[in-house]
Amino acid sequence: MDGNGRWARARDLPRIEGHRQGVQNVLRIIDAAAREGIEYLTLYAFSVENWQRPPEEVDALMHLLEIFLQQYAHELIERQVRLRVIGDISMLPEHARRPLEKTLQDTAHFSAHTLVLAINYGARAEIVRAVQDYARDVQESRARPENLDWSTLANYLSTAGIPDPDLIIRSSGEKRLSNFLLLQAAYAEIYFTPVLWPDFDGEELAAAIHFFSQRERRFGKTGEQLHQS
Ligand code: FPP
Repeated sequence: MDGNGRWARARDLPRIEGHRQGVQNVLRIIDAAAREGIEYLTLYAFSVENWQRPPEEVDALMHLLEIFLQQYAHELIERQVRLRVIGDISMLPEHARRPLEKTLQDTAHFSAHTLVLAINYGARAEIVRAVQDYARDVQESRARPENLDWSTLANYLSTAGIPDPDLIIRSSGEKRLSNFLLLQAAYAEIYFTPVLWPDFDGEELAAAIHFFSQRERRFGKTGEQLHQS
């Protein structure tokens, strides 16, 4: 959801105003994604590196998360959207963590649509924790290194049970993954758009999906092999 700060600066507004607009956009995109038939939508809300921002901005982001949950938890329930989180939420302030945990519980039984919020998430931290957990299982004889394969390792990641992303959209013109789902993105199509997140609407999403629909996904095979089967 990149570009909130620049959206605000371009209007001579404080950065937090951009984040406020960014949050308003979240429900709009949840609806647009549902209309497009997307089952899993993941939003990168707060990275492990984002703690380094000025404390007042971090504070404001945590309050916006709380407000989002207060305002929209019932909308998620109404739309039968399951909320999931990837990242270590134990470090969040209680005023944000509590409503988050409640919404996770209240929506846990839905299955048609899943909204995944990446909060205090970083792929490297996720991988380190997965390896630690796996090593512990080996040490305690619950796992054997020679049996480790990708699907086993994937179950140690915070995305266990969530399919790998087919399409990753990066708004605001940046062209990097910034520690987002590094292993899960192995075969994702990546769409870069200069549009800032508060301006990223249903039409922009449709354009990204059109880009995706034009891609030939070979997963290591040749084009000829794909067209034979
Ligand atoms: C990126 O814009 C946005 C963020 C780092 C924070 C987004 C998170 C929230 C708005 C908190 C609430 C989240 C949810 C899902 C309710 P930027 O500040 O990096 O923009 P810039 O690159 O233009 O400065």
